[in-house]
Amino acid sequence: MDKPRDMAAIAALVPVIPVLTIEHPGDAVPLARALVSGGLRVLEITLRTEVALEALRAIARDVPDAVVGAGTVLNAQQFEQARQAGARFAVSPGCTPALAAAATASGLPFLPGVQTVSEAMALGEQGFTLLKFFPADVAGGLGWLKAVAPPLAGLRFCPTGGIGPDTAPAYLSLANVACVGGSWVAPKNAVNAKDWAGIERLAAAAAKLKRP
Ligand code: 3PG
Repeated sequence: MDKPRDMAAIAALVPVIPVLTIEHPGDAVPLARALVSGGLRVLEITLRTEVALEALRAIARDVPDAVVGAGTVLNAQQFEQARQAGARFAVSPGCTPALAAAATASGLPFLPGVQTVSEAMALGEQGFTLLKFFPADVAGGLGWLKAVAPPLAGLRFCPTGGIGPDTAPAYLSLANVACVGGSWVAPKNAVNAKDWAGIERLAAAAAKLKRP
């Protein structure tokens, strides 16, 4: 399957990007397969556990239809580690000048995080036109996204943080929302129970959500 190279093209593949924090390396491949089978092929593995890079590497190797990326990338070194592990994109809850420079130098698609208009403007100036809006629910949610749409007409967002199946449709109805991120499609209890069929069902429901 085709593997898009820019962040907007990756976001266009799915309405929902699962945000996955993997504790056990053995969960990585079956979890990724369940999500991809359900229709969510873009996967964000947060770099918050010891095994995150190993999990990313395994998915990149064994789940060819997945477009796997690294999340919670906080510095340039992690950016490079993620790229070497096979990440097709990187996500950060915010951004720093060093991180933006690492992304530009490597050419790896990057989804930097913002919470304010000024942060969004600064990244827009550097050519990052698709931004993670984080933490979406507490930083202004739908109201923020609606309010910034006219002044920030060239920018689109992937709101993430506190979004679930009940609120995702309203986010996805906004023209400046490219997709949403969230962990609800892979709940911790389902992963611990290795309920891959249940996770596939959650993914299938999320994959059906419509964008404008
Ligand atoms: C995160 O970084 O944890 C993501 O924003 C996911 O948030 P959620 O668990 O509220 O979906």
